[in-house]
Amino acid sequence: MAIKELRIDQLRNLVDVSIKPGPGINVLHGANASGKTSLLEAIYLLIIARSFRSQKMHRIIQQDKTHATVCAKLNITDRCVFVGMQRNLNGDHQLRIDGVSVNTAAQLAGAVALQLIEPASFQLFVGGPSKRRRFIDWGAFHHYPSFLSYWRQLQRLLKQRNGVLKFGKMDDCVRLSFEQGFVSVANAVDQLRQNYIQQLEPVFTQVLNELLALPDFGLSYYRGWSRERDLAAVLESSLQRDMAVKHTHYGPHRADLRLQVNGQDAVDILSRGQQKLVIIAMKLAQGILLTQALGKPCVYLVDDLSAELDQHYRRKVCQQLSALKSQVFVTCVSNDDLADCWPEAVSVKMFHVKHGQLIQN
Ligand SMILES: Nc1ncnc2c1ncn2[C@@H]1O[C@H](COP(=O)(O)OP(=O)(O)OP(=O)(O)O)[C@@H](O)[C@H]1O
Ligand SMILES: [Mg+2]
Repeated sequence: MAIKELRIDQLRNLVDVSIKPGPGINVLHGANASGKTSLLEAIYLLIIARSFRSQKMHRIIQQDKTHATVCAKLNITDRCVFVGMQRNLNGDHQLRIDGVSVNTAAQLAGAVALQLIEPASFQLFVGGPSKRRRFIDWGAFHHYPSFLSYWRQLQRLLKQRNGVLKFGKMDDCVRLSFEQGFVSVANAVDQLRQNYIQQLEPVFTQVLNELLALPDFGLSYYRGWSRERDLAAVLESSLQRDMAVKHTHYGPHRADLRLQVNGQDAVDILSRGQQKLVIIAMKLAQGILLTQALGKPCVYLVDDLSAELDQHYRRKVCQQLSALKSQVFVTCVSNDDLADCWPEAVSVKMFHVKHGQLIQN
């Protein structure tokens, strides 16, 4: 998938922006507050239907305006698709795909794999397990068509179970019949996550090795309860405790991805630059695996690539991004930040972002 044309209007400081990105590397450079992140945000919003930096959607609409729009001509598996979205100040929003109004962006999010690398991606290290579960689930969602349905069932059943725990009583008969369903869906979610991490691990190790020498770094999957015990037995033995705290302590909703160096938490050991490189390797590996396994290319949005990285590592990351053969949008402050980082044979399209306008260099 690639974005062939993009139009953005009245989104943050962007006014009537119209560009034709290249199929490979696109660099957006400009001073602070010129609108670079806003442009990445517009692409994300169009595909995923939410912003990556504001929960409050009205914040994306330009001050004193009533709506923001983003339209694009996409190339999805050699077919042109026209997508347009409008967000209104009163909370309404419209999404059109090939001129037809649709209620949800799920169709697009499934067809278009989008990878975002931005300052908040450090949450993979410093944030709670939900950030890392989201990373695993991105892959499980794109690789296994059944994952989303299992995942939704799991959320529903977990809510029901926690509701019963709050009530304070659970009759054995109700518990056993209810728990059978919960355990079976939980195992299905766990199995798909496990399969995904197993496939991802060697790809990740290879990408990481190419970026930096961290031979003792390891990713390991924790499923949310002991590997040695089955979930039904774990739930039974923790029932009294669950009743006391009124929520389910063990299950796939507690899954995590442990990032370690020599068995120690990597966040306590790695420098900020090393953490950034590991995050980049994790996200590149996801895209590479998706293309290898399903022939589906990812679109990459990389905000502030040069921050935290010296020239040596900027070059290494740029080489890896070029090798993806995917469409990539990279932002940086100065034109020079990445100037000699791209391999010679790679064609790079440059855009200068200035006061909410884009000029192609
Ligand atoms: N709703 C809005 N209406 C108008 N302008 C806004 C709105 N929300 C944010 N802005 C402004 O848009 C400008 C562009 O912000 P953006 O984050 O895209 O800049 P940037 O180029 O990524 O800068 P930096 O290099 O500092 O990350 C900023 O001046 C910001 O204050
Ligand atoms: Mg920015």
